[in-house]
Amino acid sequence: MKSSKTITLRTQRTTIEILGESAAGLMLDFYLSNKEHLTVWEPQRSEQFYTLENWRKSLRENQALLESKKGFRFSALNHDRTEVVGQCNFSNVVHGAFQACNLGYAIASKYQGQGMMSEILTACLGYIFDEQNLHRVMANHMPSNIRSAALLERLGFEKEGYAKSCLMINGRWEDHVLTAKINPKHFDAV
Ligand SMILES: CC(C)(COP(=O)(O)OP(=O)(O)OC[C@H]1O[C@@H](n2cnc3c(N)ncnc32)[C@H](O)[C@@H]1OP(=O)(O)O)[C@@H](O)C(=O)NCCC(=O)NCCS
Repeated sequence: MKSSKTITLRTQRTTIEILGESAAGLMLDFYLSNKEHLTVWEPQRSEQFYTLENWRKSLRENQALLESKKGFRFSALNHDRTEVVGQCNFSNVVHGAFQACNLGYAIASKYQGQGMMSEILTACLGYIFDEQNLHRVMANHMPSNIRSAALLERLGFEKEGYAKSCLMINGRWEDHVLTAKINPKHFDAV
């Protein structure tokens, strides 16, 4: 299921990896089972998005992104590895003076409200800050996404601004609250 180059992070309830092509079926199941749950908060998806072909391609891209360190698209599985419980993507990684990336995430509707997303993100942020030594992780949410706002606050993200008409979500340009978390270790290093 996984590439030999992948990263594995273990939390109390999940095993987190950057999955390889052979996990396409698990990813497709996650997006099919959570279609309604995610529609309101994500870009509109084409029919092609919900195919094995799309997920094989996407997971191959994930491995290429990992190798080039341009993106870290993590999937959290239950320990039995029978289902994907959540996703978090660290994308648009920029090195050099910025050392920053964007963060997106989603938890399966049946695991919402159980602290699972916080558990997954705590582990992934640890990896991004400690192992990749990135300085800034940026996460944006629609003002109406109360759960996302609460999650980011719990994780120590701070509000930095408000972007009008920022992202095309579910077919509409939506305003977003801009937040970021700085690598805690870097506060002492300046
Ligand atoms: C945004 C999203 C990931 C938040 O998930 P979540 O389950 O609310 O987040 P957490 O994992 O932090 O769980 C917090 C809840 O679990 C409870 N909880 C239980 N045990 C907990 C624990 N050990 N630690 C933290 N919280 C715990 C908290 O009290 C809180 O409960 P509440 O729902 O009554 O407020 C989820 O709503 C989602 O996937 N939404 C759709 C996609 C989306 O919006 N993505 C983000 C776009 S910006």
